[in-house]
Amino acid sequence: MCGIVGYTGLDTAKDVLITGLKRLEYRGYDSAGVALERAEGDGCVVDIVRRVGKVAGLESELAQRDDASTCGIGHTRWATHGVPSVANAHPHASCDGRIAVVHNGIIENFAELRADLEARGHVFSSQTDTEVFAHLIEEAYATTHDLAAAVRAACVHVVGAYGLAAVCADEPGVIMVARKDSPIVVGRGERGSYVASDVIALIDATRDVVVLEDGQFARLAPEGIEYTDAEGRRIEPAVTHIDWDIDMAEKGGYPDFMLKEIYEQPRVVRDTLVGRLAPNGELDIDELGLSFEELNVIDRIYVIACGTSYHAGLIAKNLIESWARIPCEVEAASEFRYRDPIITPSTLVVAVSQSGETADTLAAIRDARIKGAKVFGITNVIGSPVARESDGVIYTKANKEIAVASTKSFIGQIVSLTLLALLLGQAKGRLTTGQVRMLFHELGDTSAQIQRIFDTQLDAIHEAACACQGAQSALFVGRGMGAAISYEGALKLKEVSYLHAEAYAAGEMKHGPIALIEPGFPVIAVTTKSPTYDKVVSNLKECEARGARIIALATEGDEDIKRIADHVIYIPPVRDAFSAITASVPLQLLAREVALMRGCNVDQPRNLAKSVTVE
Ligand code: F6R
Repeated sequence: MCGIVGYTGLDTAKDVLITGLKRLEYRGYDSAGVALERAEGDGCVVDIVRRVGKVAGLESELAQRDDASTCGIGHTRWATHGVPSVANAHPHASCDGRIAVVHNGIIENFAELRADLEARGHVFSSQTDTEVFAHLIEEAYATTHDLAAAVRAACVHVVGAYGLAAVCADEPGVIMVARKDSPIVVGRGERGSYVASDVIALIDATRDVVVLEDGQFARLAPEGIEYTDAEGRRIEPAVTHIDWDIDMAEKGGYPDFMLKEIYEQPRVVRDTLVGRLAPNGELDIDELGLSFEELNVIDRIYVIACGTSYHAGLIAKNLIESWARIPCEVEAASEFRYRDPIITPSTLVVAVSQSGETADTLAAIRDARIKGAKVFGITNVIGSPVARESDGVIYTKANKEIAVASTKSFIGQIVSLTLLALLLGQAKGRLTTGQVRMLFHELGDTSAQIQRIFDTQLDAIHEAACACQGAQSALFVGRGMGAAISYEGALKLKEVSYLHAEAYAAGEMKHGPIALIEPGFPVIAVTTKSPTYDKVVSNLKECEARGARIIALATEGDEDIKRIADHVIYIPPVRDAFSAITASVPLQLLAREVALMRGCNVDQPRNLAKSVTVE
């Protein structure tokens, strides 16, 4: 969730960079920095200025400097490798300080690269993966004496994702840019050449941009931009004209943040899994800080959380109990903190919180630790109170979530909790390395399955939304995983559309809620293929007999479901354990569509706050 900007041209670079960085700040940040070229004697040097905190802090520091540099690169950082600090903020420099880089993405093999570089005498000054790029380019430059060639050579060694911009004091005015799996946009304006990780940062300067593709490079100079492939051959990439306004651009062209964040979910799955499977087939979740032997001792788990995060816990319970055979309870943190739960030194408390600062969740963590439990945090915010106060933490890689209703962070939580369940299963000797590897790969496949839902199901979701929009109330039902998915579906619908919705385990319908059903009443049912499929279908028949309008979430290929469902949204076939990841996505889209039809602001529902820091 970092942001990159770069400029070389006629204007004062620091002003252009700060304007661009401010535009990127909405995505989240914990530090910011710039590298500016400056003439010195007959040559040039690169000055690096970095600050922890908002871009405004960096801006005031730069305002005090009489810096007329016309070439520089800048970055806003949202920590992934290494805590937020000046040393970890970008740009990062080579040993001799003549090369500086900014980078978005994750270098998966950074530990090996760093060890090799250190063995060859390179001294590192940060904990980041990015810094290896500065040293790799430095090494390559020593033989090529050409920044473009050196950047291409460095990229050959890197496994992972990068959007990269580099400057070199020996080639004043030149910015070299590379891309693989992390967005980079390049543009030429009247006053120079620009690069950014998001078009929003250069939209004031130009509306004709090149969106670099993987394996493409760009060499920016004040007078123009050259594009090359990985072999250095010149290419002529397509130019895209941007006709969005700033508001649209911040949302990446989507009409609202909620939709943008829903569409980011395939990436969230991928990013949350990057680097998690070691070559020996074991899961790599070192940051939990417990060995297999210590994990093996755990005999009771509480997942504590609020709202959507609590629903992620319901899904985790199914996985933990089935794979690790450890009893697992899921509790609202606001209840847990005032109960007297049974806690022993072999109890693990898993605290799930997107913001990492929900008051009830934090209080429950403190209470659990006082009572002797080990606490793992699952959070989206690096360095947040939940991260700091837990014994170990897994970070979801959702990146900054702006819409108040959680979508992509929920998917990041489920993926992280699934990793934890796999780890516990392995530590308890219930899952073999081979099974973990297979499940891990299937988990990764959900990224493409979500994309398939976007590609094929939007019309079906729209029709289902039309069926709900005029209703007074709606019921969500399912069993097992389907029940947990239903709870989240109902919460999403009510919070963004203000349409009253409840969720029930489908078998509970006849014990009360079925009294609500009258002709036209919407019942949204999770009927994906699972061990309880037939049971859910019979529960639905009881609703159908009373005139309910049934919207079914079914597995692709299930034609039978059409006999009782008025509308069907299809989900690619997926193991029941992973169905929450795919089935939740159409329910998010459904909630959003109903909300828009009812004239609601989907990004900022009334009465709600993104972080609930009060009890
Ligand atoms: C619903 C939603 C809330 C949060 C809840 C917990 O879409 O966003 O229900 O899930 O307030 O927040 P965190 O996860 O930040 O602790």
